[in-house]
Amino acid sequence: MAAVAARLARCGTARALTFGRPRRLHTVYQTAELPETHRMLRETCRDFAEKELVPVAARLDKEHRFPAEQVKKMGGLGLLGMDVPEEYKGAGLDYLAYSIAVEEISRGCASTGVIVSVNNSLYLGPILKFGSEEQKHKWIAPFTSGDKIGCFALSEPGNGSDAGAASTVARLDGDEWVLNGTKAWITNAWDASATVVFATTDKSLKHKGISAFLVPMPTAGLSLGKKEDKLGIRASSTANLIFEDCRIPKANLLGQLGMGFKIAMQTLDAGRIGIASQALGIAQAALDCAVAYAEKRMAFGSPITKLQAVQFKLADMAVALESARLLTWRAAMLKDNGKPFTKEAAMAKLAASEAATAIAHQAIQILGGMGYVTEMPAERHYRDARITEIYEGTSEIQRLVIASQLLKAYRS
Ligand code: CAA
Repeated sequence: MAAVAARLARCGTARALTFGRPRRLHTVYQTAELPETHRMLRETCRDFAEKELVPVAARLDKEHRFPAEQVKKMGGLGLLGMDVPEEYKGAGLDYLAYSIAVEEISRGCASTGVIVSVNNSLYLGPILKFGSEEQKHKWIAPFTSGDKIGCFALSEPGNGSDAGAASTVARLDGDEWVLNGTKAWITNAWDASATVVFATTDKSLKHKGISAFLVPMPTAGLSLGKKEDKLGIRASSTANLIFEDCRIPKANLLGQLGMGFKIAMQTLDAGRIGIASQALGIAQAALDCAVAYAEKRMAFGSPITKLQAVQFKLADMAVALESARLLTWRAAMLKDNGKPFTKEAAMAKLAASEAATAIAHQAIQILGGMGYVTEMPAERHYRDARITEIYEGTSEIQRLVIASQLLKAYRS
């Protein structure tokens, strides 16, 4: 705890030194319900977002530019290895802290939010949980500082939701694994220095024949597909990873042989808390934007916030956002307490992503024509929100997970 306080004190110093007088984002929610460490962290991340992300988010989006400078600064603040113990150069915080940080970062820039989420949950998460001591030192520590980031390669061109149908293969040849196949929709692909990749080592065993591997990037036999031209989160890169006789040392197997599917599923349980948090940040930004505009926009002789039609929209937006936030924090706290959280993480992601798309939709409605042009951020929030219902498990997959857990509980 002392180390955490020291880190947060350092964050505070960084803020005082570099942030100047921040332009405050509209603060709707009180933070009194959170522990002090988490409140401090929220303030730090909020200040960072206001000073470092809000001013550049539209340009990064327009230019499809990776926020390298901001990622480096976030590494300095401890935001790239949030629940990683300090012995592996992480911040030693918990998942509630991580959720709060991803929300605040995404409120400033949703692309930066997913970059942080993928590095923390999908790349570092499985190594922390399933890696050997040697692997943790080698593959975690360099990825918490902001100098390097990682990615997670599970989906393939022919199978996204059906993750167990992986056709990428890994064959042992002497002291090396030889990987062949194509992974698709890989967030951070163009900017990553390593990936956790899932490949079949024994097809006859179906999902029990899938294993996880650690692959440095770049490496011989691994090439990148084109950068996808996306609707939203355009400052993060998304591309295929193409493995053609890509050789990696035998020691790069992560966890046990055949354990890959479980590693992927457990990693995604945690990752869904990250994406739920990203969705919360987008939704909050859209609500902030709608309120700020509606307070100033005059119609029929007064600001449109006087109109019940607008008030009802704002009320519904706030309820959807706040309920999704509570579900997300509950899932994070269950994880922090070592309790099962598969169902709760799926509920959080489903609620937060659907809230984000609905809130961003209504924000545009409130802004009218101004919501439809790039002069205001509402259209970017609308575009950014959409992917949260698709990646790390579609809304349909979340419903499947929730129903299967629910029925299991009723039947036991
Ligand atoms: N934790 C631990 N184990 C789990 C688990 C979990 N959450 N979910 C399933 N399992 C285990 C089951 O217990 C079962 O174990 P046994 O074989 O020992 O009995 C095994 O895994 C198979 O389970 P299912 O029969 O339920 O598996 P399934 O093939 O029917 O698939 C699924 C289940 C939920 C649909 C799963 O395939 C899934 O989550 N699909 C979505 C994948 C996904 O989210 N992809 C996103 C990729 S990442 C991304 O978006 C890109 C990015 O860069 C951001």
